[in-house]
Amino acid sequence: MSATVDFNDRMLSLGLARVSEAAALACADMIGRGDEKAADQAAVNAMREQLNMLNIQGVVVIGEGERDEAPMLYIGEEVGSGDGPGVDIALDPLEGTTLTAKAMPNALTVIAMAPRGTLLHAPDTYMEKLAIGPGYAKDVVSLDMSPRERVEALAKARGCKTSDITVCILERPRHQDMIAEVRDTGAAVYLITDGDVAGVIHCAEADRTGIDMYMGSGGAPEGVLAASALKCMGGQIWGRLLFRNDDERGRASKAGITDFDRIYNRDEMVTSDVIFAATGVTDGSIVAGVKRRPGYVETETVLMRSKTGSFRRMIYRNPVE
Ligand code: FBP
Repeated sequence: MSATVDFNDRMLSLGLARVSEAAALACADMIGRGDEKAADQAAVNAMREQLNMLNIQGVVVIGEGERDEAPMLYIGEEVGSGDGPGVDIALDPLEGTTLTAKAMPNALTVIAMAPRGTLLHAPDTYMEKLAIGPGYAKDVVSLDMSPRERVEALAKARGCKTSDITVCILERPRHQDMIAEVRDTGAAVYLITDGDVAGVIHCAEADRTGIDMYMGSGGAPEGVLAASALKCMGGQIWGRLLFRNDDERGRASKAGITDFDRIYNRDEMVTSDVIFAATGVTDGSIVAGVKRRPGYVETETVLMRSKTGSFRRMIYRNPVE
């Protein structure tokens, strides 16, 4: 069960949307320029500047990396004015750096905020993920099931055939067997080249997106961001950290993780209420990308609050010369 804590989330949520909008606007000029680093840096700078305007005592728990490798928005960086509630912040100033550099769909800026000590401090490793949308019984599928068993269990719970199920998976060589096994059940596979936060969110809007389940490995930080979104929208997600070497195990230990095989469910990754915002950089299935119109620039943002389950789609127009 999650605790309900007042962290001024009602008022802070609009501020969070501003942070996410600013990051999207800042990196929009880098769409299609082939420079992932410059696009990310522009988003990082803008996100940090806006975050520091909020009345919070914030700590970045999911950020750009360890302090020695990321000069801004590193894990542990304190952000905000220093007044107001103590909060944990999970962010990805540009989720889909390659998508942006190549002008491909679904690049987003993403940020979540929750009371201090309530977001999983996921290290910068991979995470095995499984997610479904709202309306299913608890634990109807699990990470311990094979891909085939997951599809069959979900079809049974939905009262449909396996061929009516669509599963979203990151297109990677490491997922080749998983993709084949899912297709072998008759289910469809919706492949994405990047951006698994959006991949997971798709499950929460199955009527709109046609996607019932997300599975596969991707960034652990993105797993916590996706869990934050599902906590607001409904739906279940499970994650298990994956380690390739001792350096990654060391990162997990540093983050306070002792059980390396643990499976975290949504409410274990996000133990209290959370607010979440994501703004489109390039056009996508969740939000439209940044648009330059004569005289103004426009962004689209989704803004959510788990306490009330509220979900806003917000268009922001900013005049330009
Ligand atoms: P970046 O925006 O940092 O490039 O991450 C994009 C992403 O696709 C994530 O959404 C996903 O979790 C991760 O990369 C997958 O990692 P990999 O590309 O190593 O398979």
